[in-house]
Amino acid sequence: MAHPPVPNPGIRADSAARTPITPGSAPARWGATAVFAGGSTLLSGIGELTTNVAGGPGTREGDPTGLVTDAVVLLDGGRVAWAGPAREARDAVGRALGGREPDVTVDAGGRAVIPGFVDSHTHLVFAGDRAAEFEARMAGRPYAAGGIRSTVAATRAASDDDLRAGLARHLDEAARQGTTTVEVKSGYGLTVADEERSVRLARERTPEVTFLGAHVVPAEYAGRDDAYVDLVCGDMLAACAPHARWVDVFCETGAFTPEQSRRVLQAGADAGLGVRVHANQLGPGEGVRLAVELGAAAVDHCTYLTDDDVAALAGSWSAGGSPAGVPGTVATLLPGVEFSTRQPYPDARRLLDAGAVVALASDCNPGSSYTSSMPLCVALAVRETGMTVAEAVWSATAGGALALRRDDVGHLAPGARADVVLLDAPSRTHLAYRPGVPLVAATWKDGARLPARENPGPSR
Ligand code: NIG
Ligand code: FE
Repeated sequence: MAHPPVPNPGIRADSAARTPITPGSAPARWGATAVFAGGSTLLSGIGELTTNVAGGPGTREGDPTGLVTDAVVLLDGGRVAWAGPAREARDAVGRALGGREPDVTVDAGGRAVIPGFVDSHTHLVFAGDRAAEFEARMAGRPYAAGGIRSTVAATRAASDDDLRAGLARHLDEAARQGTTTVEVKSGYGLTVADEERSVRLARERTPEVTFLGAHVVPAEYAGRDDAYVDLVCGDMLAACAPHARWVDVFCETGAFTPEQSRRVLQAGADAGLGVRVHANQLGPGEGVRLAVELGAAAVDHCTYLTDDDVAALAGSWSAGGSPAGVPGTVATLLPGVEFSTRQPYPDARRLLDAGAVVALASDCNPGSSYTSSMPLCVALAVRETGMTVAEAVWSATAGGALALRRDDVGHLAPGARADVVLLDAPSRTHLAYRPGVPLVAATWKDGARLPARENPGPSR
């Protein structure tokens, strides 16, 4: 296997996961209802384990994906207690459990195990769909930012319970495809009340909530863009910040200018929010460099990049590229968008070869990318953006964690959250090799196994 040239800045075998699990906190309510909370689970008979831990037990020197063959993972109390080769497991598991037997044992039967996917970019608080717009695109009409406004109208008209139900349905759909951490943005409300409602409802399900009041200028502010930016930076931000961790802006022709974007991001940062940016999706622009300059955790889309953009992204990870102790800016690619809009795919190879850090995310939304499937994103990234399988799986797990500045997910070191996916396949390669096939056999979130979906079978 080719070793990904990507750096693995946040994750080392000796890194301690720091974020505590608070009983009853949002992550425990993520996705489908778990059937087994607490206790220990021993996953044995793993043919191929991706830990994303460089230098962990049984890994090969210099492999950022920390691949282990014939492996075992022990989950205990919602955390990974141990992960490594079967030949070391008896002693290591005994030590980790202090002589206790595991509560549950699962034989993977030679199948592959990976960390749960970290989907760092979705827009899941919305109502309605835009199938007709998609159909028109497939008949030749180009994608434009303005389509967002039709989802805004449907979202404003929806009840809280309708929005909650849609969010729950999409989160459940994602969980069944192996997503165990998800970011959710607002951006289809675009009034103070509707944006506040969006971030509040998102916060009921995930701690990774992003305020995207600056998604597009709503129809009632047509021709008064700056007045809308004033609202976003003023009353709207004040109402939304208590529910959000991040601020985001769509910096693109037809949405917000670099100057307006800077105002929004600076106001969000001043309110204590972390910065992330939508940029360079529909054409070249200043968004990527603005994101790097402001120390954004991630800049997403990155479809149209100049050499300067690539150098800025890579430079943010080099010594002195960011303030001491602050990670650089992740380039998050969203290949579901190019699939659904017939735009050219971004060039991951160019970014990786330059030393940038790349994440993959779904961008699940009813307009530009109506998929919640991280396995599909991995397949598209491998087929269309120049990534190796190892790089794509790393980017969809550890890369997503870096894009959210999380050190407790995206890898399987002792102390990390017990977010684990068992694939119905002998290797992670099958994620790209068998596109469109449901390959997730089981998912554990915080050590709890998500229930198997009732499957009536094709003949009933
Ligand atoms: O990330 N680019 C801006 N926002 C979304 C699209 C939203 C929509 O079309 O409804 C995106 O692609
Ligand atoms: Fe988006």
